[in-house]
Amino acid sequence: MGLIRDVIHAGGTGGLSWHVHAYYAGKRWQPTLQLIDQFLAQVTPKSDHLLLIGGSAGWMMPPNWLSRFERIDAYDIDPLAPGLFNWRHGPLLKVQGIDVHHHRRDALASLPDLLQQHPKACIWFDNVLGQHRFRVPDVKRAEHELAQLKTTLKGRHWGSLHDVWSGPTDGRLLPAGLNVWSHHVTAKQSLEAAFSQKLLASVGAKDAWHDHLTSQVFAPETQTSWMPWAFKPNYWHWLQAGWIHA
Ligand SMILES: C[S@@+](CC[C@H](N)C(=O)[O-])C[C@H]1O[C@@H](n2cnc3c(N)ncnc32)[C@H](O)[C@@H]1O
Repeated sequence: MGLIRDVIHAGGTGGLSWHVHAYYAGKRWQPTLQLIDQFLAQVTPKSDHLLLIGGSAGWMMPPNWLSRFERIDAYDIDPLAPGLFNWRHGPLLKVQGIDVHHHRRDALASLPDLLQQHPKACIWFDNVLGQHRFRVPDVKRAEHELAQLKTTLKGRHWGSLHDVWSGPTDGRLLPAGLNVWSHHVTAKQSLEAAFSQKLLASVGAKDAWHDHLTSQVFAPETQTSWMPWAFKPNYWHWLQAGWIHA
């Protein structure tokens, strides 16, 4: 029963509906993929072993980033993730001799164990932390757990791309003029109302937007990049990305 539910709708953030949506949204998501690629291109991981958390099929994952590692352990709760990830990225990774291991697991609940099992690996949360509030019914607990991650990860090289807000827009297109849309700021600024208003206005935000409770994932001094994501034509997300060099 659990397996069937996860195939259709893994944790509300993966599953069949997500993959079908991602498949057809490829062109609309392309500017965001380029921003992710730009961000990851300037990250220098200090390990050749990656723990990839919530990688799904890697719909938004630049192949150049994956190619930097010798071994990748991918963790996702979605039973469809391994097959689709291998379909999209497997051939290239195989040619490059990169060893990929898939695990169907709640990687947030078991994070301390994973870190202990792989003491030298770096960790990339691949657009997964913004979903935590939808998996944990208690909002205060979800926010606290997200804020605590940096303590659990102390001493490790890690990074995250995650939703900060999402909501309805006026239906404008996301242009390819990427520099206009890439805001390199510190996370501290994100807490300022004027900054969030500026980001929301720049994508034509309407009505109420969801807060994904990720504003304390990074410590205030962390340099982060902000990226708009036209998830649906009239429903966008603001993503934040950062990397911590331990
Ligand atoms: C928005 S999708 C990620 C998309 C992915 N980065 C890509 O490029 O296709 C979020 C993924 O996180 C997974 N997920 C959510 N909570 C998780 C958890 N606690 N542990 C492991 N995977 C999780 C979902 O199953 C889903 O595949």
